[in-house]
Amino acid sequence: MKLELRNVTKIYRSKTHTITALDSINLAVREGEFVCLVGPSGCGKSTLLNIIAGLDKPTSGEVRVDGKLVTRTGPDRVMIFQSAALFPWLNVFDNVKFGLNMIGVPKPERQVIARKYLRMVHLAEFEQASVHELSGGMQQRVALARALATDPAVLLMDEPFGALDAQTRDLLHDELQTIWSETRKTIMFVTHDVREAVVLGDRVVVMSARPGRIKQIFTIDLPHPRHIESHAVVDYAREITAVMKDDVLVSARDTDARVLHALEAQMVGDDVL
Ligand SMILES: Nc1ncnc2c1ncn2[C@@H]1O[C@H](COP(=O)(O)OP(=O)(O)O)[C@@H](O)[C@H]1O
Ligand SMILES: [Mg+2]
Repeated sequence: MKLELRNVTKIYRSKTHTITALDSINLAVREGEFVCLVGPSGCGKSTLLNIIAGLDKPTSGEVRVDGKLVTRTGPDRVMIFQSAALFPWLNVFDNVKFGLNMIGVPKPERQVIARKYLRMVHLAEFEQASVHELSGGMQQRVALARALATDPAVLLMDEPFGALDAQTRDLLHDELQTIWSETRKTIMFVTHDVREAVVLGDRVVVMSARPGRIKQIFTIDLPHPRHIESHAVVDYAREITAVMKDDVLVSARDTDARVLHALEAQMVGDDVL
């Protein structure tokens, strides 16, 4: 297995509160698999990704990549966040080369590799552009090129398209499916958009509200490319949403009513289709 989570538990303790963010998460992800993680706001999705990245430590349990215990951050795991987190003082080309520099790739090779991935995300012509000239979607594509360039074993994506408009997001779904079929990266992708999870994932892991546990795992048996409006995707999403709904109600009460509203709007939309 490429990535293994064994009994990963995370407890946050403060003077007044103890929050069990993750409770015994077990998951094995094979090489080249695309796994989407969905669940209500606050169920521990980001916490889990941070632990895999080595940005945070589990209270108990362990994470292994290629059999090796994760104890801190490393170039074998790269994270992409909702905001692209590019370096504003570097142009597009230098942003993509940055990670290659960090892992000691010689200069001439850096150029070749950076160009390859900028072509892959359709930004070859924007090599010399500065970050602030780019739209949000373009920035995420640069972040993706930067992440892929260093050839990590596992790519971790935490709601990477959450801040984009629907058209840009749909376009990036198409591109990410193509890129994934070309690179066969192992990807853990967090989203609270169930349809997005169905479009992208080989499997969709549904987490329950606090304490975060794996509630159910769905295998999405549909050929790529998939599209967010296709009936097959909508059907899967409806089934998964039904499983999630009780939990969202619980968590919405104390955390985030927006997710519930979004989910309800989506279910109403589904019925119209
Ligand atoms: N550094 C922290 N200290 C205390 N509690 C935290 C911390 N980070 C996250 N939490 C809590 O852990 C739970 C899971 O958070 P998070 O992983 O961000 O959820 P999600 O990404 O699914 O919305 C939440 O209840 C959150 O308040
Ligand atoms: Mg989160």
